[in-house]
Amino acid sequence: MSETSRHSRSTDNAPSLESAATDRAGHTTRPRPAEQHGSPAARHSRRDLLRVGAAGGAALAAAGILLPGTAHASARPTVLGTPPLPAPRIERAAGSALRPFGRHLAFGADPSQQVVVSWQVPGAVTAPFVRIGLQPGDFGSPVAAEVRTLVSKLSWQHPVEDQSLVKPTTVTQYYLHAQLDRLIPDTTYYYVVGHQGYDPAGQRAQPGDVASFRTAPAPGRGTGFTFTAFGDQGIGSDAAATGRLVAGLGPAFHLHMGDLSYANSGGSGQTGDTYDARLWDAFFVQNDPVAAHTPWMMAVGNHEMEPWYASDGYGGVRARFTMPDNAWGQSTGIYSWRYQNVGLISLDGNDICYNTPTNLNHTKGKQKTWLESRLAAFRADRTIDFVVVYLHQCTYSTCHDNGAELGAQQDWAPLFDKYQVDLVLSGHNHIYERTDPIRAGKATRKVGSGGTVDPAKDGTTYVVAGGGGDALYTFPAADTYLGHETPNDSPVPMVISDPSGHDHTVKVTWSRVRYTGYCLVAVDAAPATPGKPARLTVRSLTENGTAVDLFTVQRS
Ligand SMILES: [Fe+2]
Ligand SMILES: [Fe+2]
Repeated sequence: MSETSRHSRSTDNAPSLESAATDRAGHTTRPRPAEQHGSPAARHSRRDLLRVGAAGGAALAAAGILLPGTAHASARPTVLGTPPLPAPRIERAAGSALRPFGRHLAFGADPSQQVVVSWQVPGAVTAPFVRIGLQPGDFGSPVAAEVRTLVSKLSWQHPVEDQSLVKPTTVTQYYLHAQLDRLIPDTTYYYVVGHQGYDPAGQRAQPGDVASFRTAPAPGRGTGFTFTAFGDQGIGSDAAATGRLVAGLGPAFHLHMGDLSYANSGGSGQTGDTYDARLWDAFFVQNDPVAAHTPWMMAVGNHEMEPWYASDGYGGVRARFTMPDNAWGQSTGIYSWRYQNVGLISLDGNDICYNTPTNLNHTKGKQKTWLESRLAAFRADRTIDFVVVYLHQCTYSTCHDNGAELGAQQDWAPLFDKYQVDLVLSGHNHIYERTDPIRAGKATRKVGSGGTVDPAKDGTTYVVAGGGGDALYTFPAADTYLGHETPNDSPVPMVISDPSGHDHTVKVTWSRVRYTGYCLVAVDAAPATPGKPARLTVRSLTENGTAVDLFTVQRS
């Protein structure tokens, strides 16, 4: 084992590793402003959930839909902690001039009945709402949306070359979330979003105003479905291309394994990072054509740690997203859910990350305890065939830019072994890499492209799909992928950070597929049928749909 300095490699595009080292020493004592988008009770009250037993026209109104007027954008957001930001001066434009944008959907913990519609408006509006229906032109009564207001200072950008030209000196973002419950399983709903002065159902709808989603079938093994996944998307032509491929594949849902917009391009989770909140607007606009129709379920990456809003860095995430809150309340990126015969668990890899340690152990062991309880529950459910875990950081990877996470290997991999997790999906390294099945840190056998893994016998397969669109990284060893296999029998080096911040290089044999390029993962899940076992067919696809890996995870 050789040792190198941890400062010899990047922290996911961090501009200054020296500052990261300085920050590391002091991050536990540095005060942070509290988050600014309302009280926790207001954010996640289940009393605010929509109750819909049937949909379409009068049936929606009869089902007890919340009426507009219970939520409105606040021009003076509550600021907890110190120091408060100056209240922004907002000249309210007519509602008709403020078009909604950046729609993105998410499932609740029960995707057969719960969908969250989220979007933005460019200014303060009154009575924002969503209307849903079973036909594009037959929308029900408005369902009130919760407003989460986020105020950011332009001075948080570093450098700030255009600051003096921009007025006001703060950015106020209005994120709207309508939580729909008691929807009909396995049903397509159409919807529009609006507010006072802008109601696509009450006037001639403009192109793109009407979107749709489909609820999951009722809980049970189901008949099979497809989901997609990538991490590290960012904003740009490649990011848009992978998004378009998601749309083309038409999955039931998409997993985003963190590092979404790179608004915080530093990625260390410290106030010295470079940050421009406005990049989130561009991110959501870029993804609207896909995310307005397909639920995106996100895990937090190191670039989602935005220390200006909340003590845990996730105030921005809580304003912009509504993921299931079934871990322990305000857990943000830690939640579990199921879709047909697959149990899914989202983890916060910042909690175990020695490489970027700002939030290291911030759950104080709660996440590990919760993870084991969810793995045990999924494995005890005889209608769940597969368990898929997704998170940002890499448990196993030979890409040196961010390396592999010793914390995940020590804390979580033994649980993945114990409960025979079928697939672990991550990002963080901006490449595609797939391991042989691993147990106790070692490959159990070689499984090349086209091969089949039996997790009960072979162990867990780890996939890094960080080629969602941001700048690519490189491997120390040659690429080897479907149709372009290269000699790959020699051990290759893996870099890990230890708790003291030093990097270590060890040789490993499990790096089976490596591809340096933009891509996503598409997984076809199928229950057992007569003569065929339950299986996950996993494909890694480039931006133009070319397969660079294909393997099957099969349970008899
Ligand atoms: Fe990244
Ligand atoms: Fe990352």
